[in-house]
Amino acid sequence: MTMMDQARAVRENAYVPYSHFRVGAAIRAASGTVYVGCNVENVAYPQGTCAEAGAIAAMVAAGETELTEVAVIADAEHPVTPCGGCRQKLAEFGRGAVPVTMATLDGQELRMTLAELLPGAFSTAHMTLADKDT
Ligand code: THU
Repeated sequence: MTMMDQARAVRENAYVPYSHFRVGAAIRAASGTVYVGCNVENVAYPQGTCAEAGAIAAMVAAGETELTEVAVIADAEHPVTPCGGCRQKLAEFGRGAVPVTMATLDGQELRMTLAELLPGAFSTAHMTLADKDT
């Protein structure tokens, strides 16, 4: 099964009673293992979590902290790009060159790198002065 097939399969489990918009994500970690996630909404809307966040949580729970490839799929006219928060979450664990493939159910695909999705990402490099306050 390709990563996109895995994202497509987990998308079926999305819990989306409010938006009815199912999203599936698959993340390959440095070991080669693929972790999947779907969006899980909540009646208190901001408590909902994105598919990408679920896949990242599964990867970290399994003991991995480096991602090398991302696939996201949704039923939309155009491939859905990760939200701003998820771009930052992905950047925490992946280098700028990590390829992110976004797809629609009918097979359209858009490929971008993490750096293209989040140029100028906030990173530890911006926190070099933080230690001086302690
Ligand atoms: N959503 C994701 O899970 N990933 C994305 O990349 C875009 C948006 C979810 C959040 C919410 O459950 C629904 O899609 C509508 O915004």
